[in-house]
This record gives sequence, structure tokens and C-alpha cells, in this order.
Amino acid sequence: MDKSKFKIRDILKSLRVRFFIIVFITGLVSCLVMHSVILTSYEDRAVNVRSTEVQTQLRILANHLIVSNYLLDTSSEVINAELGMLANLYDGRVIVINDDLKVVKDTYNISQGKTIISEEVVNCLKTGSKGTVSKYDQANGYIEIVTPIIESDLIQEEDVSVKDKTSEVVRGVLLTSVSTDTIATTLTILSRRAQSLEVVIILVILVFAAWVSHTLLKPFDRITAAINDVKAGYTDEPITGPNYLETEQIIKAFNALLKRMKVLDDSRQEFVSNVSHELKTPITSMKVLADSLLAQDDVPNEVYREFMTDIGAEIDREDKIINDLLSLVKMDKKASGLAITSVDVVNMTEVILKRLRPIARRHNIELTLESKRAIVAEIDEVKISLVIMNLVENAIKYNKDDGWVRVELDADHQNFYVKVIDSGYGIPEESLDHIYERFYRVDKSRSREIGGTGLGLSIARNAVLMHRGSIDVQSKIDEGTTFTVSIPLTATAATTAVK
Ligand SMILES: Nc1ncnc2c1ncn2[C@@H]1O[C@H](COP(=O)(O)OP(=O)(O)OP(=O)(O)O)[C@@H](O)[C@H]1O
Ligand SMILES: [Mg+2]
Repeated sequence: MDKSKFKIRDILKSLRVRFFIIVFITGLVSCLVMHSVILTSYEDRAVNVRSTEVQTQLRILANHLIVSNYLLDTSSEVINAELGMLANLYDGRVIVINDDLKVVKDTYNISQGKTIISEEVVNCLKTGSKGTVSKYDQANGYIEIVTPIIESDLIQEEDVSVKDKTSEVVRGVLLTSVSTDTIATTLTILSRRAQSLEVVIILVILVFAAWVSHTLLKPFDRITAAINDVKAGYTDEPITGPNYLETEQIIKAFNALLKRMKVLDDSRQEFVSNVSHELKTPITSMKVLADSLLAQDDVPNEVYREFMTDIGAEIDREDKIINDLLSLVKMDKKASGLAITSVDVVNMTEVILKRLRPIARRHNIELTLESKRAIVAEIDEVKISLVIMNLVENAIKYNKDDGWVRVELDADHQNFYVKVIDSGYGIPEESLDHIYERFYRVDKSRSREIGGTGLGLSIARNAVLMHRGSIDVQSKIDEGTTFTVSIPLTATAATTAVK
């Protein structure tokens, strides 16, 4: 029981089945409504025609009754024949009633002499001038017509200016019932014909509903098949199809997704090959150094030392690359990883510069800090330190001997700003768009010589974006470069900036 219920619910879930049911029910209901409307209006019309026809005859007959004074004397052969004919013609019964409610004549010869006190008859006698009243009794298949027998006298007015009047007196009532059997027979025949036609129409609707629901929903099958092909890896071409607006939208969205996946896939492959290349370089150097040591016998101690120092440097380099990669991967896990605390930015910068001063001194580069005001911000200290450190390190690394590096700190109501300005050899304009890419270096050989892997700015930018800040660069070849970082002062400002 439960199982079959479950199955029905599953079947009803199908858009195709629902579509079929809707089309079928709509067709069926309109067919049935049409059937009943047509039959009912035929019946109404037939009954109307019949009663008007009989009413006209009865009115003429009522006149004859008055003229031949039939209500008082029923012996008139002509009138009796006329009554009989009428009753025959319409397969009915005519009863003539006088104003005492007594039956004067009954074509069935049953009720002669009896008194009829039916409501319609009494009403008709009272208000006969209102004319004929007819009533259709569908259940028993007859129309009942009550016709007043009216005697009208012309009253001549003595005053010529006043029009002559007629006075109307109801002398009796004709109570007639007319059978509607013929109408009923026609209805039955019509209904039977309609039914056989309906069976055909329902079959047609059934086929039509099946066809429509199948055809209209076909594009969805095609999309599913195309998506499955992509999923199975047979193709990574954008999917196409003859379509409706709706399916076109699905296809567009899917193709956009496919494109994005391809881009991601490409960049991941490029990243992996870059990583392996960068990791391999120090290892190759170490292998060369070690091999050349092993190739010699009786190596002097100093040479050993020198080679081992070089190997140690390569190990440091490998370590740095791995650490940089790890911080990049960590930051890819998004802003949830921010350890926000209240930080004195000026103090933090001073500490960083102190650590970098020995490197600057090696190239005789002057390193200065200019701070316009005290700045306290809600930031992740480690990550923002990384940003400033990378920028200042670059400014020193890509500088001329005897050059200078200036770090400027400032703040407004919402953000604080770090500017790192150097007198270095600048970044060519065509490279400005790429410097934040992982492993990108303007001059590969020079950077490697200096010890760069092209990860620093990528890490810095990620850290800035995690804080909902921005990083900008301006540079002129042979004049210098200025990096400007702007970070919201409060973590809440950072989150409202997202909205
Ligand atoms: N201040 C600067 N002046 C001139 N060129 C710069 C400056 N900062 C960055 N660059 C250029 O941008 C490239 C990318 O910098 P990035 O800091 O990402 O990598 P890197 O310094 O080479 O290596 P890493 O920082 O990972 O040790 C550098 O190789 C360099 O060519
Ligand atoms: Mg760098």
C-alpha cells in the first residue's frame, strides 16, 4: 500500500505527467460542458417553441368558445371537434373550466362536472387579463398551459373626445397539458450521438495531450543528455539545442558555468606546473652542489663549507616557497580565518621596518616612516604585517643602490592608508595588471637572482581583500613605484562594506 502510494507521488512529480493531466482534463471538461450546454439550450428552445405554438392555438380556441357560448352549452359539434383535434395534435389534454371552477369539458372525459381548485386556475380567473401562463414539468414530460377565456365588450363613450373602451371579463379557463415526449426522444437521440462523438473527441484529446506533453518537454531531455555528456567527459563543448526562452536560459547558465570551470581548471593546472617548477629549482641546485662535492676526492674543508652554505641557502629558499604557498592556500579558505584584534598600526609598522632595516642597509637604502596620526584598527595583525612586509621588501629588493623607501601612514573616519614609495626601477605598464598573479615576475632572471618567486604580492592582495580593503599601484620606469593599501578601521565597517 505504502509502496504504491510512493510510486504515484513519484509519477506525479514528473512535469510531463502533470502537463498531460492538465491538457487532458482541460479538454475533457470543455467537451462535457459543451455537451450539456448544447443539449440544455436545445431543450429550452424546443419547449419554448412548442408552448408558444400551443398558446396561439388556445387563444384562438378561447375566442371560439366565447363566440359559441360554449361555457353554458357544450353541445357545439364544431367546438368539440376542434378541442379533440387540438388534444390529438399535441398528444395532450384540454380541460375547459367555467368561472365557478367547474369542469365543463375534458377531452379525456374524466373530470366532467368536477371542481378544479388548482392555484394556477384560480389565479388565472382572478387576473386573467395578464394572459396565458405556461409551466414546464421536465420530470413528468409535459407542459401545462393555463389560458383565460376572455369576453371583451366594447363600451361606447358618449363623449366623443374620450376614446372607446373595452371591458374584459374572464369567463373561464382552458387548462391544457401538452406532452413533450417528442422533445425527450430527440434529446435522447442527440445525447447518444454526442456521446459517440465524445468518445472520439476524448481519444483525440488523449493522443493530443500525450503528444504535446512529450514534444514540449523534449528540450529538457536534450539538455540533460548534453549535461550528462559533459559530465561523463565525452565533450567539454558548450551545449546547444533548439529551444524555448526557458531552456535557452538554462543552457546559457550551464555554458557560463562550463566556461568558468574551464578557466578554473586551466589556472589550477598552470598553478600546479608553476609550483612544481619553483620547487624543483632549489632541489636541482642542491643536487648539482652535492654531486660536484662527491665527484672530488680530498675536498678541502673550506670548499665543503662553501658548498654546504650554498646548499643551506637553497634549503631556505625551498622553505620560503613552501611557507608562501601554505599562506596562500590558507587565505583561499576565505575570510572566516581572520583573527581580528585591536592593533596599533603605527607601532606594528615600526616593528616591521626594524626587521627589514638590515637588508636595506646592505644596499645603502634609506628606509623612513612618516605617520600623520595615531592609528588603531581592528585587523588580523599577522596578515596585515605580511602585506606591509611584502611591499616594503619589494621596495627594497627592486631598488637601486643608495636609493630610498618611504612608508606613509594616514587614516580618515573609515579607513587607514599605507603608502610604500620607492626610488626603484619601476614596473612597466603592461605588467601592472599581472603583478598580483601567482608566480608572476616582471623580469624572471633578475627576480630569481634577487630571490623572488612571485608569490609576495599575491599573498598581500589576498590578505587585503579578506579585510575588504583595496590595493593600488602607480609606477614609472626608472623613477619608482608607489603601492597604496586602504583597509577599513573596524571589522564591522568591513562587513557592512560587503553589503
Ligand atoms: N616595488 C617594486 N618595484 C619594481 N618592481 C616590483 C616592485 N614590487 C614588485 N615588483 C615586480 O612584481 C613582481 C611580483 O612581485 P612579488 O612580490 O609578487 O614577487 P617577488 O618579489 O618576485 O617574490 P616573493 O615576494 O614571492 O619573494 C616582482 O617579481 C617584480 O618584478
Ligand atoms: Mg615580493
